[in-house]
Amino acid sequence: MVSAATPIGTDIDQSRPNVARMYDYYLGGCHNFAPDRAAAEQVLSIFPDTPVAAQTNRHFLRRAVRHLATERGVRQFLDIGAGLPTQGNVHEIVRECVPGSRVVYVDVDPVAVAYARQLLAGAPDTTVLRADVRRPDELLADSEVNRLIDFSEPVAVLLVAVLHFVRDAEDPWASVARLRDATVPGSPLVLSHLTLDGAPPVPAQAGKAVYQQSSAPLVPRTHADISRFFDGYDQIEPGLVWWGDWRPERSPDGGRQSGVSHGYGGVGLRR
Ligand SMILES: C[S@@+](CC[C@H](N)C(=O)[O-])C[C@H]1O[C@@H](n2cnc3c(N)ncnc32)[C@H](O)[C@@H]1O
Repeated sequence: MVSAATPIGTDIDQSRPNVARMYDYYLGGCHNFAPDRAAAEQVLSIFPDTPVAAQTNRHFLRRAVRHLATERGVRQFLDIGAGLPTQGNVHEIVRECVPGSRVVYVDVDPVAVAYARQLLAGAPDTTVLRADVRRPDELLADSEVNRLIDFSEPVAVLLVAVLHFVRDAEDPWASVARLRDATVPGSPLVLSHLTLDGAPPVPAQAGKAVYQQSSAPLVPRTHADISRFFDGYDQIEPGLVWWGDWRPERSPDGGRQSGVSHGYGGVGLRR
């Protein structure tokens, strides 16, 4: 595991597929290496609609953030497992809605952190740091986090498509609870998570096997287990639903933009 003190660039492993860079490949990005692309192609041979599902997840994230910024007055965002910079990053969405909002990006992957730092150079009230969601105390004690985030005010914790890389034995529910307890009542949790609910078992096992060779295992969970992350939160409408069903927007022709969902998403407000 990394600690906050691990220097960036000292431990970039290009030989093994990396989950951040595989996701970048699904999204059409260029921050990936040959082993990432080979593993991603294996996943695509099993689940060809993965790129559409990745976009559907990103759309969920954008709608949730926009909702919090415009409808709920949230001005601070802690995006954990933020990934490689792509289009429509959180700071871009919130700045469109409310200038002056503060955004802290966190990722365990040194490549994601390095590219995010490049992208963010000069961006006001935004920072990126390397930390591990499995070590929330270190993350919460980080000086950059505390420079930008005022924990006496509401702060949105974003855990979007990250907790399915944490094993049950590492107790991701405890991490979420620790982050929740660091925030004041009214603070939102934005969470999305892969599931295999409804997926045929054989391809599901094949997909998980690809990730066994990568930087993190894939741990899809059931609706019931994902709901437990919201302990201590009141979920806002429509609750924990397929990514595409969370407050979908209308397409220009009036149809519903729902996409393809491989997981559930929801937003809760801390009690
Ligand atoms: C699928 S990407 C999701 C990116 C973005 N949140 C999104 O939904 O578009 C998962 C990200 O979680 C990061 N990640 C995986 N395990 C992590 C951990 N233990 N702590 C922090 N980040 C982690 C990966 O490096 C990767 O960038």
